[in-house]
Amino acid sequence: MKIKSAEFVVSNSVVEKCPQQPLPEYAFIGRSNVGKSSLINMLTDRKSLAKTSGRPGKTQLINHFLINDNWFLVDLPGYGYARVSKSTKKTFQKFITNYFEQRQQLVSAFVLIDIRHKPQPVDLEFMQYLGEKEIPFSIIFTKADKLKPKAIERHVEEYCNHLLRFWEELPPHFVTSSSKKIGQDEVLGFIAETNEE
Ligand code: GTP
Ligand code: MG
Repeated sequence: MKIKSAEFVVSNSVVEKCPQQPLPEYAFIGRSNVGKSSLINMLTDRKSLAKTSGRPGKTQLINHFLINDNWFLVDLPGYGYARVSKSTKKTFQKFITNYFEQRQQLVSAFVLIDIRHKPQPVDLEFMQYLGEKEIPFSIIFTKADKLKPKAIERHVEEYCNHLLRFWEELPPHFVTSSSKKIGQDEVLGFIAETNEE
């Protein structure tokens, strides 16, 4: 899929204030600093459409980006960020779950996992939650530039084997690097396929 246009539309923490157009949308979720905002920039070939930072906790709101005037990419705050206060964490979690449970336009979520990390409870619990709510999701392994090809293969295989202990079927999964531009065609191809249905 060719990205002809990509524009920021709105940021907010209330699902009712998200864009009203009934366009399909795809949301990026995962731990703080895993590379959600960077991935949105890589996928859209825009340097700073979504704001990124080396410090976790950069994205704090639900951000809608309109792509090719007919679908949305949604950048979300990270979960599992230890340095925010307990009450901020609760508010965060509430509006994220409101978003997932109420947003009719959501076609699919992408759960981002740092390819270097072993399966972490917070990610597994989040996938479990999506499963319980019957929200379709895929896994995106990020920062593949940090590992050699053999290690990439091994890490993905180990992660998938771990998931198969709890899941009968594996979700679609992708390997990406925002700095080396790996995985762009695969993720955009998946979006194009599911967008047409
Ligand atoms: P929050 O908004 O805080 O939840 O973080 P995020 O998941 O949006 O992460 P963000 O895209 O801001 O990136 C976090 C850090 O990881 C930044 O320093 C990025 O430059 C770096 N990063 C993101 N993607 C990649 C990647 O593919 N490779 C490498 N090497 N670094 C990356
Ligand atoms: Mg971000």
